[in-house]
Amino acid sequence: MEFPFDVDALFPERITVLDQHLRPPARRPGTATPARTDLQHQIMTVVDELGRASAKAQHLPSPITSASRMQSNRHVMYVLKDTSARPAVKGAIAGFLKVGYKKLFVLDDREAHNEVEPLCILDFYIHESLQRHGHGRELFQHMLQKERVEPHQLAIDRPSQKLLKFLNKHYSLETTVPQVNNFVIFEGFFAHQHPPARKLPPKRAEGDIKPYSSSDREFLKVAVEPPWPLNRAPRRTTPPAHPPPRSSSLGNSPERGPLRPFVPEQELLRSLRLCPPHPTARLLLATDSGGSPAQRRRTR
Ligand code: ACO
Repeated sequence: MEFPFDVDALFPERITVLDQHLRPPARRPGTATPARTDLQHQIMTVVDELGRASAKAQHLPSPITSASRMQSNRHVMYVLKDTSARPAVKGAIAGFLKVGYKKLFVLDDREAHNEVEPLCILDFYIHESLQRHGHGRELFQHMLQKERVEPHQLAIDRPSQKLLKFLNKHYSLETTVPQVNNFVIFEGFFAHQHPPARKLPPKRAEGDIKPYSSSDREFLKVAVEPPWPLNRAPRRTTPPAHPPPRSSSLGNSPERGPLRPFVPEQELLRSLRLCPPHPTARLLLATDSGGSPAQRRRTR
């Protein structure tokens, strides 16, 4: 991908790491230094262009990577320069890989919910003319080393078929642990989680729980679903007429019930009043009325 400015000077290294500040990397000695704001503007242009190209390659209705989304999230973007670009061209970009830590609820192989915060693969793109030449692997390897993670520790946000093949070929990632959200995890994920995965109570009846998954691709849905528990829909008995957009071949994408209107305020208040008090609240009430001063202090 070429740009109307000097990409070679903008990104002196083959791989540049960008965070939410989108800071221009240090330039080579002897290179003219344009104003910092100009450099940042150029970086924003590159990020926006890459995001658009990736969305197009994945047939997404809108980009999930942009300069403004980078600035408002703690994501990290690895940008790969195309060093084979014609000398007449002032450098070119081969592609990028975007990662970020996300808090997820994932199911283990016994279908128990685990609260984890793994590094997630959020967006990945190599220019069409350069695919299947090892550039994706080079970028991925660099990221693994920098982030100090093993491939099976990653969670992948709705991987494309190409990415699934890529992970299988280069990292032998094949067997997935089925999930009910958009993220795909592979066998070995739970064996090497650090910090340790936090176990949640055993899974409730299906349809009762909507594990939280802050997929970057959520916003691609046409309508916005209200948060749990307001989105609880009756269990579907017949398959959906239209599958969810770009469902993974592994059957891990959620089967979402039809979107429902918000619960009326009165009904919500009534259901909240019916909730039993939290055990800690119960303990506080009990100790406040009768416990010793020392006990009361500890409890507080
Ligand atoms: N069809 C099938 N498998 C493919 C394809 C393809 N068109 N392209 C790459 N692969 C897989 C294969 O396993 C391939 O090995 P093979 O050629 O021996 O079959 C391997 O990737 C090639 O490895 P690299 O050359 O290192 O990978 P590449 O530079 O092509 O980058 C990437 C891989 C990023 C997936 C690239 O193909 C791409 O940009 N695809 C389009 C966008 C996309 O699908 N991105 C992932 C979105 S999902 C997400 O980001 C969470």
